[in-house]
Amino acid sequence: MLEKIKVTANFIREKINYSPEYGIILGTGLGGLVSEIEIIESVPYSEIPNFPVSTVDGHSGRLIYGKLGTKKVLAMQGRFHYYEGYSMKEVTFPVRVFKYVGITNIFVSNASGGLNPDFKVGDIVIINDHINFFPEHPLRGINLNELGPRFPDMSGIYDEHLRNKAKQIAIEHNINLKEGVYTGTSGPSFETPAEYKMFRITGGDMVGMSTVPEVIVARHMGMKVFGISIITDSGVSGEIVEISHSKVQEIAAKAEPDMTLIIKKLIESI
Ligand code: HPA
Repeated sequence: MLEKIKVTANFIREKINYSPEYGIILGTGLGGLVSEIEIIESVPYSEIPNFPVSTVDGHSGRLIYGKLGTKKVLAMQGRFHYYEGYSMKEVTFPVRVFKYVGITNIFVSNASGGLNPDFKVGDIVIINDHINFFPEHPLRGINLNELGPRFPDMSGIYDEHLRNKAKQIAIEHNINLKEGVYTGTSGPSFETPAEYKMFRITGGDMVGMSTVPEVIVARHMGMKVFGISIITDSGVSGEIVEISHSKVQEIAAKAEPDMTLIIKKLIESI
């Protein structure tokens, strides 16, 4: 695996001829950030050695390198979900590569179902912790000490300084920003009402099908992490209505400008 990571990282470094420090996984709600990036290089995943290819609707699958405000960033347009059939090693491979390209700070976004009754559909929530409900752990198997420790610490994963900065930015721009615990589960089915209830009881404020594997791996390698989520539907008893992928995308699109602004200003402020 190490050899593959290095080959892919070298390929990217040669393409961009730079070592950007900021990596972004443009999940649901951050797609619009692409239009804010002054693109210097864009490479379809299919042209990157060892990269899996994205399959889900609404994710085009390319790596973008460019300037976001004053900072150079490397952004993944389209991520790899466990529910698509990829192994956890595949889902998290790009994060490994990011580290070897030089990324020290990673920014991730997603859509989620609200579990906390204080959250409303359309709310933007900073992730301050997570619960891993995926059936497979991305660090299972032989540990390569060069990548990170066998038993990595998971306290304070979501960087407090970045979270505080984001809150400050939200206040300055009149954006209503909440904070909570993200529960990651495999999907692809949305939850039954009983499952939403269980995820609430077990400590989640929102539930979604991504992010946790990538964040665990980013932490394993000592990267700083910032995560943000859009509540696209409610899993709160009495508020649950039928949900679809297109509805999730529609709600997320509405919150996208605010989310984009927060990430842009946050990266600028570092
Ligand atoms: N559950 C899981 N994943 C999701 C949801 C949800 O309700 N909404 C958006 N992604």
